[in-house]
Amino acid sequence: MNWKIPLFKIYWDKDDVRAVSSAIKKGMYWAIGPHIEEFEKGISEYIGAKYSTVFNSGTSALHAALLAHDIGSGNEVIVPSFTFIATANAPLFIGARPVFADIEEKTYGLDPEDVKEKITEKTKAIIPIHCGGCPCLIRELKEIAEDNDLVLIEDAAEAFGARIDFW
Ligand SMILES: Cc1ncc(COP(=O)(O)O)c(C=O)c1O
Repeated sequence: MNWKIPLFKIYWDKDDVRAVSSAIKKGMYWAIGPHIEEFEKGISEYIGAKYSTVFNSGTSALHAALLAHDIGSGNEVIVPSFTFIATANAPLFIGARPVFADIEEKTYGLDPEDVKEKITEKTKAIIPIHCGGCPCLIRELKEIAEDNDLVLIEDAAEAFGARIDFW
């Protein structure tokens, strides 16, 4: 038997289709304009942040976050070995080296123990992801980042709205 098990089943509903169609049908304001402002405001309110900025893609957002922290040539960025390729590509875009750390079995996110092993004097940032809606061990990773003076760029592209301490 030829079973195909999809990695993800992506949720969408009629409201999503309606919202995207209405933006397209306006024929303008696709890059900046009222839809974007409303979206950013909605995100800020939802996550309780003062500001939010949307990008054309998750890849661009990671790229910009690394640039914003002045990370570049000669630096290393620790990324998960099981991830979407953007987390490894973003450091490459700016001349930094992605260093793959292992994942752990509970959440399939970065293994804090292996992250510690991978830190060198060139390490500048850690990019954990929350795989398929399942939050990784972000508290432990945050502590490692703080202890080692590293930037923590939390990539929630697969887990917007997910909550930690769900177990
Ligand atoms: C964890 C993660 N980071 C980044 C991205 C990149 O997003 P985009 O495809 O919008 O560039 C994805 C895309 O699925 C992702 O799953």
